[in-house]
Amino acid sequence: MSRPPSQFYKALSIGAPGPFTELPVRLERMIHFMPPHIEKMRAKIPDIIPKVDVILGNLEDAIPADAKEAARQGFIDLARDNEFGATALWTRVNALNSPWALDDIVEIVSQVGDKLDVVMLPKVEGAWDIHYLDQLLAQLEAANGLSRPILIHAILETAQGVKNVDEIAAASPRMHGMSLGPADLAASRGMKTTRVGGGHPAYGVLADAGEDGAERAFYQQDLWHYTVARMVDACATHGIKGFYGPFGDFSDPDACEAQFRNAFLQGCLGAWSLHPSQIDIAKRVFSPDADEVKFALRILEAMPDGTGAVMIDGKMQDDATWKQAKVIVDLARLVAQKDPDLAEAYSL
Ligand code: GLV
Ligand code: MG
Repeated sequence: MSRPPSQFYKALSIGAPGPFTELPVRLERMIHFMPPHIEKMRAKIPDIIPKVDVILGNLEDAIPADAKEAARQGFIDLARDNEFGATALWTRVNALNSPWALDDIVEIVSQVGDKLDVVMLPKVEGAWDIHYLDQLLAQLEAANGLSRPILIHAILETAQGVKNVDEIAAASPRMHGMSLGPADLAASRGMKTTRVGGGHPAYGVLADAGEDGAERAFYQQDLWHYTVARMVDACATHGIKGFYGPFGDFSDPDACEAQFRNAFLQGCLGAWSLHPSQIDIAKRVFSPDADEVKFALRILEAMPDGTGAVMIDGKMQDDATWKQAKVIVDLARLVAQKDPDLAEAYSL
């Protein structure tokens, strides 16, 4: 159950900033994960800032239990020591049932809440997890005199979370979006794969047997199609953003690109980069294709008020394709503001 409409946009704590009624417009093609307890990694932050749309200090899985406090402190240090400009600063805190979550949230928001754009919350099971964090953030914002609300990004990575995806998306105006977490989700569902995202050679469809007895073709299928589609529908319904999460096989950039592109085509706006090599893959995939942008611009030009029907290169265009074109051109304009080479390629 979410709050009634008349209460939905009220600050949850006296003195906290009210929530955004519309999400800030930002380019978030890659959420770049870094481990903040490693000094060498913190030292690279100034070089990474201009290369990525989002930098995320990871405190949760992949950070050893005995380094959790150091990661938290490392994140606070790197937030203080750097200016992020147009690059967003996020952190992934530990799960709410862990011994670290409360201190992660309280210490980070108290010390560097003015620098923090988004808290990524793992293992979200239902709206109750979002409501808890929503209230806690409001109390901390008020106590620390913050003027800008911190957003929440949920990881969709449990069977129960997927079942409740719609109520999670609707839980609060503080919701930024969500990412599919294929590793935890596979475990939670009892899927039989040890891979982090991507396909599986055994998951597919076998073509019918021919009369000649020739070898039958086997077509690999996308294990994540159903979940990405559910997530995108829930996000679009509630005006928040969907993302694909991690791709674990750094030795297979082609498979990473294919996974990212499926998510992009289905409506996602970005993916996680866990390795520097994945930054460029995400940039390539989540920036629209130049030919597609040029064609979309022709549709918008041919139908200035967005109504009617015209033919372009033998293809029927109408009010609906005008909207499709606008999705692509709006994204291209956002990319063009940040990337002069792409601005030229798009003729924008
Ligand atoms: C990400 O956190 C995942 O579990 O895939
Ligand atoms: Mg996970």
